[in-house]
Amino acid sequence: MAIATASAVPTSVLKPKNSITVIDNRTGKSIDIEITNNSIPATAFSQLKAPYADGERPENDTQYGLRILDPSFINTAMIQSEITYIDGNKGFLMHRGYPIDQLAEKSSYLETAYLLIYGELPSKSQLDLWSWEIMHHTFVADDLQQMIRQMRYDSHPMSVFISAFSAMSAFAPEANPALQGSDLYITNKPLMNKQIVRILGKATTVAAMAYRIRINRPFTPPRSDLSYTENLLYMMDHMAEPNSYRPDPRLAKALDILFVLHADHEMNCSTSTMVHVGSSLVDPYSCVAAASAALYGPLHGGANEAVIRMLAKIGSVENVPDFLERVKQKKELLFGFGHRVYRETDPRSKVIREVAEMVFEVCGREPLIEVAIALKDAALKDEYFTSRKLFPNVDYWSGLIYKAMGFPLDFFPVLFVVPRLAGYLAHWKQQLDSGKNKISRPRQVYVGKGRRDYIPVEAREERPITDKNGLNAIPHYISKRRLTKI
Ligand code: CMC
Repeated sequence: MAIATASAVPTSVLKPKNSITVIDNRTGKSIDIEITNNSIPATAFSQLKAPYADGERPENDTQYGLRILDPSFINTAMIQSEITYIDGNKGFLMHRGYPIDQLAEKSSYLETAYLLIYGELPSKSQLDLWSWEIMHHTFVADDLQQMIRQMRYDSHPMSVFISAFSAMSAFAPEANPALQGSDLYITNKPLMNKQIVRILGKATTVAAMAYRIRINRPFTPPRSDLSYTENLLYMMDHMAEPNSYRPDPRLAKALDILFVLHADHEMNCSTSTMVHVGSSLVDPYSCVAAASAALYGPLHGGANEAVIRMLAKIGSVENVPDFLERVKQKKELLFGFGHRVYRETDPRSKVIREVAEMVFEVCGREPLIEVAIALKDAALKDEYFTSRKLFPNVDYWSGLIYKAMGFPLDFFPVLFVVPRLAGYLAHWKQQLDSGKNKISRPRQVYVGKGRRDYIPVEAREERPITDKNGLNAIPHYISKRRLTKI
């Protein structure tokens, strides 16, 4: 870890090249901070303390040290990681050193999951054992199945998925640090590995169940003789066919490639949630539920669903210019475009475009593809998008593939989260194996009211209930009947 040293006045002596010098102009104090791997520790700045200036709010805590403010983590690294690297300016992504296009072409989802979690490509016997273990941890407890069955037929499948993982925590008391001791996963690595295969194994079963309740069909028991994605398609689609029924191998392969592409993407919103929640040492099922909830939102894994809704609303190629105009006026978002890290085309979207053609050959060409291509071409020629370096991301094309394959729209984020569990688990394991886990606890900069004394309700000034100041949320949720009563 980089070390910061403080001196009373900035000196002109030669500083170590790999360092920065920060001068606090409030006090004249300077600190040298060592740069390690092109990063500096934010804690170094807490040495920069200053007395309160005239009129300064005490809540600014100046005497306790300078804070680093970075809402939405625009330029703050949360961890040091050995798992995934993205060069956003070149549109490059690799896992454990292997470029994503090589993994998409040559690997499989389960092999990539092993690579992410354990750091190396497995040997043949390791891969066989790993796949066997995962495919033999696919059963879901009967009570849990009944709980899932109770959910409404029109529940969003992500709500079902999140609820099922949250409940799974209750079905595995032996895996719960709250019951077994907080250092459970620090000391018991076999138990950690067991939860990893259980989570990966059960994910497809829960996903298929979330689909089956919506079509009012009984759950299909998993089959361990099928591949990971074949088994998912089988559990979703099997009806009265003979037991020898297998999903179309071309579609299972296409889905497997999509799973490789979605397996990890370093500190995205949901994986950073996994690390954040995991840092409290809660059980991994609860961590997965929390991370999956983060993925569900339309700015993250829900974007693939939002892209199709957007394309359907545009309807046809001639409506593209009007839609883009609305985007430029900030009345609409162009879903499937833009990324916090990529300033070039997302390398996954290039591979996905090829997978799309593979799937269209089997399922027929998805009619919205023409709108998608026209929209992408127009956006890439438009100064609004080029100047902001907005390019198609992974979600732009994936939804079209899922739609062509016949998945319902709201199932798309499930097809994102199931493979992303590999990345969640790799980061969870890395954090707990590092020997450096500390609870994630960001600081804040308080800009609210200063200290004041409590006023009893009788002594407070009367305010109308629909007052726009302070209580302005109330009219939105108090029913008319309740308002009349008041
Ligand atoms: N459509 C229109 N304008 C956009 C878009 C978009 N999709 N994305 C960014 N911008 C504009 C944004 O309004 C801002 O403009 P200005 O400088 O005038 O204020 C500028 O580009 C910079 O954008 P930002 O919002 O500061 O970028 P961000 O890093 O905070 O957000 C993002 C990244 C992915 C949330 C955003 O690009 C977005 O909302 N995209 C659409 C949703 C989407 O496709 N999400 C999937 C992300 S990839 C899969 C995943 O990992 O989840």
